[in-house]
Amino acid sequence: MSVWVKTHTLPNPHTHTLGLRAKPALFYADMNAKEISDIRSRALAEAESAKTAEALETVRIRYLGRKGLLQDVMKGLKDVDPAERAEVGREANALKKNLDTLLRQRKSALDQSGSGAPLGFDPTLPGAWREPGTPHPVSRVIEDCVSIFARLGFTVAEGPDIETRYHNFEALNTPAHHPSLDALDTFWLDTGACLRTQTSPVQIRVMESVAPPVRVVTPGRCYRRDTTDATHSANFHQIEGLYVERGPVSLADLKSLLAYFAREMMGSHTDVRFRPHFFPFTEPSVECDFTCHVCGGRGCRVCKFSGWIEIAGAGMVDPRVFRKVGYDPETVSGYAWGMGVERIAMVKYGIQDIRTLYENDARFLAQFG
Ligand code: DAH
Repeated sequence: MSVWVKTHTLPNPHTHTLGLRAKPALFYADMNAKEISDIRSRALAEAESAKTAEALETVRIRYLGRKGLLQDVMKGLKDVDPAERAEVGREANALKKNLDTLLRQRKSALDQSGSGAPLGFDPTLPGAWREPGTPHPVSRVIEDCVSIFARLGFTVAEGPDIETRYHNFEALNTPAHHPSLDALDTFWLDTGACLRTQTSPVQIRVMESVAPPVRVVTPGRCYRRDTTDATHSANFHQIEGLYVERGPVSLADLKSLLAYFAREMMGSHTDVRFRPHFFPFTEPSVECDFTCHVCGGRGCRVCKFSGWIEIAGAGMVDPRVFRKVGYDPETVSGYAWGMGVERIAMVKYGIQDIRTLYENDARFLAQFG
């Protein structure tokens, strides 16, 4: 009986235990089923309103933990009035079961919604990889050409895309009546300048700024009013070369240089041939063909069964061009050449249609990585 008296002189155990501290089992000797049921409702409400995994854990520890309220209830059960004891025990078990279930459900709901999950994502899933890019075939050809000529002592020079009529035509000994000056062939700007039709004007700019000797290659964009089809584009790339010496240089030097380039670029069995041609800024002028790298010169569809593929225009720099830039043609000589970058890329990589080089379809471009 002393137990009863004692418990009644102490503050209500349930309200107190709901603050975090556990109370001695003695305090629960006077508990009844209704009180346990009330505790259960409060515990469930607390679990329901917990917003984080930590808050849920706090609720669990408070009620179900080793020093939690349910432990005290269980310990105090033996002191409960035997008439009430079974009912109190049932309620206590219901509290344990219901709260446990609810805590688990709330935990997994929180995990799924992300908040409170330890990482917020599944680290075992494969990542969303961004594939590394590959050099564009046009860039690759330019880089390959530049590095081959760099081994022979050539440096790189670049000029403007918007060019003067003088640099693009006149200084290159192109007469005013030449068809390439026609409004229908060239993009003319209101200022009288044009979008360069070739990289050859960079030769002029280089010679205007340095004294011989000169060894440069000049890659860059060119523009012509061509209707786009499988082999033409209004915007394309060329790589130009210029070699000038104080002293005699011959067509044989040009030929050996292009033969070396052909083997390095297209493979060791590649041969070159020169065909006479005309360019206003070279005399004599040639077109340079490489043996077809697909059939080795026997003839196939790629080379239109000729065994040869046209790659470059070239020649010995015309004395009139030297005079325009203030070089003395009596003491200097040199050769120059120009090649279409897309043409080389198409031949080398077996690309059928020039337009695929500009469409930026990653599936197409990835083949040349
Ligand atoms: N510029 C010429 C073209 O676009 C190619 C060319 C031919 C460049 C002969 C040269 C050269 O430097 O010497 O067709």
